[in-house]
Amino acid sequence: MPFYSDDFLAELRSRNDIVDVIGSYIELKKKGNSWFGLCPFHNEDHASFSVSRQKQLYYCFGCGAGGNVINFVQNYENMSFHEAVKNLADHAGMQVPNTERSREEKEEEKKKMQLLEIQKEAGNYFYLLLRSDRGKRAHDYFLSRGLSEETIRSFALGYSDQYKDDLYRYLKKKGFKDEQLMESGLCSFNERSGGQDKFWNRAMFPILNMSNKVIGFGGRVMGDGEPKYLNSPDTLIFEKGKNLYAMNRARSTKRSYFLLCEGYMDVISLHQAGFDNAVAALGTAFTIQQAMLFKRLKKSVYLTFDSDPPGVKAALRAIPMLRSAGVSCKVLNLSPYKDPDELIKAEGAEAFQKKIDEAENSFFFEVRQDSLQFDLNDPEQKTAFFDACASRILKFKDELERENYIEAVADKYHVGTDLFRNRVAKLGREDGIVRKRVTERADSDPEMKRKERSSEAAMLSILAEKPELYKKVREILTPEDFVAEPYNRVAKMLFEQLEAGNPDPAAILDSFGEEERSKVVGIFHAKPKGLDEEEGLEEQVVREMSIKIKENSIQVRTAQADGKDLELLQKLMKEKIRIDELKGQM
Ligand code: UTP
Ligand code: MN
Repeated sequence: MPFYSDDFLAELRSRNDIVDVIGSYIELKKKGNSWFGLCPFHNEDHASFSVSRQKQLYYCFGCGAGGNVINFVQNYENMSFHEAVKNLADHAGMQVPNTERSREEKEEEKKKMQLLEIQKEAGNYFYLLLRSDRGKRAHDYFLSRGLSEETIRSFALGYSDQYKDDLYRYLKKKGFKDEQLMESGLCSFNERSGGQDKFWNRAMFPILNMSNKVIGFGGRVMGDGEPKYLNSPDTLIFEKGKNLYAMNRARSTKRSYFLLCEGYMDVISLHQAGFDNAVAALGTAFTIQQAMLFKRLKKSVYLTFDSDPPGVKAALRAIPMLRSAGVSCKVLNLSPYKDPDELIKAEGAEAFQKKIDEAENSFFFEVRQDSLQFDLNDPEQKTAFFDACASRILKFKDELERENYIEAVADKYHVGTDLFRNRVAKLGREDGIVRKRVTERADSDPEMKRKERSSEAAMLSILAEKPELYKKVREILTPEDFVAEPYNRVAKMLFEQLEAGNPDPAAILDSFGEEERSKVVGIFHAKPKGLDEEEGLEEQVVREMSIKIKENSIQVRTAQADGKDLELLQKLMKEKIRIDELKGQM
């Protein structure tokens, strides 16, 4: 992470009011002290995403996403911290001081540039080899797979030679260091034989990022052999789970949806046949980040996976991820062909378009796959099947959507609509009961001490929102009374800011790592019970809460002292007496 002075960040944030910035991305409505909108980080139909001008923080009560204005831009735009800072600074007409970036960050940026340079050189090398005599076999291989010269050129396909180290030597000659070449994933190194290439004698598919830069490769054996495809490992510039093959081209399609396939060859065949919206995962299972990428590009998805059991399994995995990202999806049925490439070759583009037009709603696809698990001629199994459908339907939060699916299932699988609707409702009620029991158990867990935790959080949240109450709190509490992390650390910083008369919760976030951050934002949004309803009684409420936290803190610290530290025990005893007096006055 780059280093910026606290002053610079404070000024950056003060010139980019969080409500204005977030309001320029999504619609916000004022409600009480906060602004609310639909969360851009998960799919929802009522607004649980809140933005506070006072605290300069955002927080989603639905998914827990949260942070300050810099974090929002980071997450929404998929930017690094530095990029987000740059973006906001540009917006506010501020200069980002160059010296404020740490040496490590500059190193890393330089490393990334070099890695991109290496991939580019390797891509050129493979490309030229394919066009040389040595690459004739690979060139013929691509032609034999039905690719035109134009397609081969436009996907920059290539060939890696039979020698075990020719790319290594080529790149060394270009001046790259062994260490860089190891990190590129294209070469490996061992004491005895020196540098070696990862890819030998393979038909090569360069993988480009959204800015059209080569970031890695897939390589296929020509003919039979194991493994069929070899892929670059993840590197600083190549994260398989975050990229999609051919998205650099597909993103500018005019169609309203993407075709998500399994393989490189499927994507290329589809593009050649005029489907410029085809993409594929990169030899790994589909991820939620990829689903969110579709969401940001505001298109739906047609799953174009192989028609074999692994393809069906992959579709059943991808559908809930796309749904939770808020991307609507349909499923193509390619049978009797194995994959899109085979279908197109056998029947052409029109036949494929027909498959698209006939694609199945993803819910029906799931239900149909369920139905194959049951013998619907057996009454008992048939009931179990309807219960499985019901539990799928219950996952939809929208009542109208549930009703539509209830009717559709009833109609399709021949059961009375009212009967089935009652069944869904009954299971829904039971499900509610189950959920309640689980939370009760968590509550009674002595380890969690959830009540204490939640009043500590509520106190920090109140202080951030109504700093004027601090003078009452400090009569009773010190940061040490917040006995668990991260409350303790947050309290220390917040109390310090309050002492200086300058509360700034958004600044506190900067000193927490990504994982802790959302927890800290959650703390600042803990809803203090009774504070809003009891207008005018705020001081009273805050005092009672302070006493509660103090009592817990005394209890915890006494237990921790464990009879050993007499001085501390005496001090705690005195505090206890004082608290009892305060309580007596109330
Ligand atoms: P498939 O085995 O379905 O291959 O793998 P395909 O796309 O039909 O390839 P062709 O038509 O035989 O050339 C689909 C994808 O899974 C990954 C690759 O990304 C491939 O495109 N894969 C497959 C591997 O990473 N390694 C393998 O050994 C096989
Ligand atoms: Mn294939």
